Amino acid sequence: MDFDNENRIVSPDLNEIDNDIEVSLRPKTFNDYIGQEKAKENLKIYIDAARSRGDVLDHVLLYGPPGLGKTTLAGIIANEMDVQIRVTSGPAIEKQGDLAALLTNLNDGDVLFIDEIHRLHRSVEEVLYPAMEDNALDIIIGKGPSARSIRLDLPRFTLVGATTRAGQLSAPLRDRFGVIARLEMYTPEQLSEIVKRSAGILGIAIDEDGALEIASRSRGTPRIANRLLKRARDFAEVMGNGTITVETAQIALNRMEIDELGLDLIDRLMLTSMIKNYNGGPVGLETIAATIGEEAVTIEDVYEPYLMQIGFISKTPRGRIVTPLAYEHLGIPFNNNNNNNNQSFNGQQKLDL
Ligand code: ADE
Repeated sequence: MDFDNENRIVSPDLNEIDNDIEVSLRPKTFNDYIGQEKAKENLKIYIDAARSRGDVLDHVLLYGPPGLGKTTLAGIIANEMDVQIRVTSGPAIEKQGDLAALLTNLNDGDVLFIDEIHRLHRSVEEVLYPAMEDNALDIIIGKGPSARSIRLDLPRFTLVGATTRAGQLSAPLRDRFGVIARLEMYTPEQLSEIVKRSAGILGIAIDEDGALEIASRSRGTPRIANRLLKRARDFAEVMGNGTITVETAQIALNRMEIDELGLDLIDRLMLTSMIKNYNGGPVGLETIAATIGEEAVTIEDVYEPYLMQIGFISKTPRGRIVTPLAYEHLGIPFNNNNNNNNQSFNGQQKLDL
């Protein structure tokens, strides 16, 4: 079986089919942007303040799991500042010259959005420091002892960086962001609002309970909610009267093997193999990865955040453990010998020998 994350219906990653629709669904202003209240309220204040001073907005770092709207938020920031946005990503900037070209082509006040900023090459990152700090580009001319550096002025700009892993950013880069905002997973109620908004834009008929059903199974992620909405529409059109109700939503989601909590086959496989092969853990990330044939980073960035959010997995210094809550959800009996390092054993704490 191929566990290709891109083809997973509950993958928070963007695939090409989704891309066009996602762009059309993206809110353009804070007013249309649902959820992330803390980040939104703070950003609004910083933007108002910068605008009234005629200043550019300070550099902003957005971090959190994939699919929560970091690109959308960057677009809103640019729109609310009334400037253009240039979008790129860490891996796409291969050489110092690539970044220099991007920076010199900006207009005064523009937003430069760098997705996956933790994947920038170190050498490229070094070009970013004087650009962020002094709006300057240091260019080395020549080689060896006769090499010298000249400094070019750049337009003023706001760097909006996005990352799923703030911990992987180098300290000098992290320190140069004036605003750091963490995006949280959405509640089912917020996702339900997003689903209804998207349905309105796409001309899909959906009732309250249908929207909430999709929202509850979207693992806190708008990108997944919008994808499930489109699949549910197909089922509603073929099997119902075209309106997505709780019944048609349930049929669609069950057919896609997405359970009531939004877990798919791969999530369940990961949990059951941790239980069956490792007695529920503790088990190391690399071991889990090898067992289910997935990359460790994908597990860490994509699968784990939600499983941890709903309390199905917890991290210990010796590895991941499956919690009793997950056993219950999977219908597997939990006994005290499970998770064998952290349960009391014959009334005594078991020693780590
Ligand atoms: N579509 C994707 N994310 C959204 C959000 N936070 N608010 C409204 N629509 C969205």
